[in-house]
Amino acid sequence: MRRKVIIGNWKMFKGPQAARQLAKSLKLKLTDIRKAEVAVCPPFVSIEAVREIIKDTRIGLGAQNMYLQKSGAFTGEVSAEMVAESGCAYVIIGHSERRQYFQESDDSVNQKIGFALNEKLKPVVCLGETLSERESNRTEDVVKRQYIGAMKNIVSADAEKIIIAYEPVWAIGTGKNATPEQANEVHRFIRDLAANLYGKKFSEKMIIQYGGSVKPENANDLLSCKHIDGALVGGASLDADQFASIVRTAEKLI
Ligand code: 13P
Repeated sequence: MRRKVIIGNWKMFKGPQAARQLAKSLKLKLTDIRKAEVAVCPPFVSIEAVREIIKDTRIGLGAQNMYLQKSGAFTGEVSAEMVAESGCAYVIIGHSERRQYFQESDDSVNQKIGFALNEKLKPVVCLGETLSERESNRTEDVVKRQYIGAMKNIVSADAEKIIIAYEPVWAIGTGKNATPEQANEVHRFIRDLAANLYGKKFSEKMIIQYGGSVKPENANDLLSCKHIDGALVGGASLDADQFASIVRTAEKLI
């Protein structure tokens, strides 16, 4: 059976104090998890607080973004090196909210991946179509452009370290999740793209998470799909019971 990777994206919620509380609850609720890979991505300012709480647990730590330069006069930005030094093993790159509100392009996603890999961070690279793109049957074109763009000049030994998260934009924070069939179909398509670039063996091993209104109620159906190797969870990751329940569902399916 495949690995299952569940990552919580806390977005712009939970300052250090609230983050500490949530991390403490998660630590208590996830003590018996042995097989699922779990991580949380708090806002930058809360990373240290969360790191302290989860340091002796199996819960990993990630950042939600990073800048595409090693260091320099880039006011307000945080480098991959800083993210790694702060104890993170993962970094989310190219989330649709960054693409939509901060003009991130396939090219900047590709550059960020390079900087992240240099620091031995595990990039969690987000792809996904908008509602209008889906309705005009452009899902595959968009996902293909995003995947190929992200992986430009990335050799397979590096590509192996990358987690892909398929997050249809129309399903994020809307309560409308893609049906397991819809998600599985796009995941299979991404796996085929990866097979073309890096070979079939690579594509069978790669991790493709689904993200978009994943909740305890739909986690089992989504995570049971052949091509869905985990979940990138937004809203439900802010509630320890809900996130723990999703992790537990993943654990049972391994
Ligand atoms: P929701 O789970 O709130 O829909 O968010 C998904 C997401 O964007 C995770 O990165």
